[in-house]
Amino acid sequence: MTAPTPLIAGNWKMNGVAASLAEAKAVAAGLDGVTARVALCPSATLIAQMAWTLKDTAVAVGGQDCRVEASGAFTGDVAAEQVKDAGASLVILGHSERRAGYGETDALVSAKAQAALRAGLEPIVCVGETLEQRKAGEALAVVTGQVRGSLPAELVGKAFSVAYEPVWAIGTGLTPTIPEIEEVHLAIRATLVEQFGEAGKSVAILYGGSVKPSNAAEILHADEVGGALVGGASLKADDFLGIIRAL
Ligand code: PGA
Repeated sequence: MTAPTPLIAGNWKMNGVAASLAEAKAVAAGLDGVTARVALCPSATLIAQMAWTLKDTAVAVGGQDCRVEASGAFTGDVAAEQVKDAGASLVILGHSERRAGYGETDALVSAKAQAALRAGLEPIVCVGETLEQRKAGEALAVVTGQVRGSLPAELVGKAFSVAYEPVWAIGTGLTPTIPEIEEVHLAIRATLVEQFGEAGKSVAILYGGSVKPSNAAEILHADEVGGALVGGASLKADDFLGIIRAL
């Protein structure tokens, strides 16, 4: 089984308007010689414009969430089919901000991953422990439990990635040590192989949480780190390119 192609994905969260597409264009213009896959995941309102802006470039576009149902009376929600139709090829699922803010469970994230597959979207499924869980020595159990519960069997052999994002490292400037990251990524890999067999070896395991140009190289070269999910530092093309180029 081949090693996964690294993926560097930017999560713009609830930031960005049409004028911000200049940053997306600048990312695309700075990718000469880059072999990693690169994606930007803006708010649903910007997916179509960004996909149009980035067509014929190496930057893929992703959504930040989707609903399980394909259509219906769900005011304010967006179906995986709509995310795909707007021009996205990937979708972030189970981000801790959604798990915490909207009570998203592993079972719901798993159902969303099935919806993403149904729509032809590649899921990026997020997992990660809170600071309390880490302090209690539960990080590995929590994260591997989330991996088991959030990834449906239908993903076997399909393109998807897992993003390990310790909740306490998101937007805080704090990051785990490299050995701590490697310990969790190795445990995720073992869980993926247990769940998906040989196919589990070719799933990219991204790290996310306060990745920036100054720490990207050591994180991206750590054992079993197959890329990054980048929040704040993906909003400015120079910072995001600094991370991409650190690979
Ligand atoms: P951050 O966010 O890079 O701003 O810490 C990462 C994420 O939430 O995906």
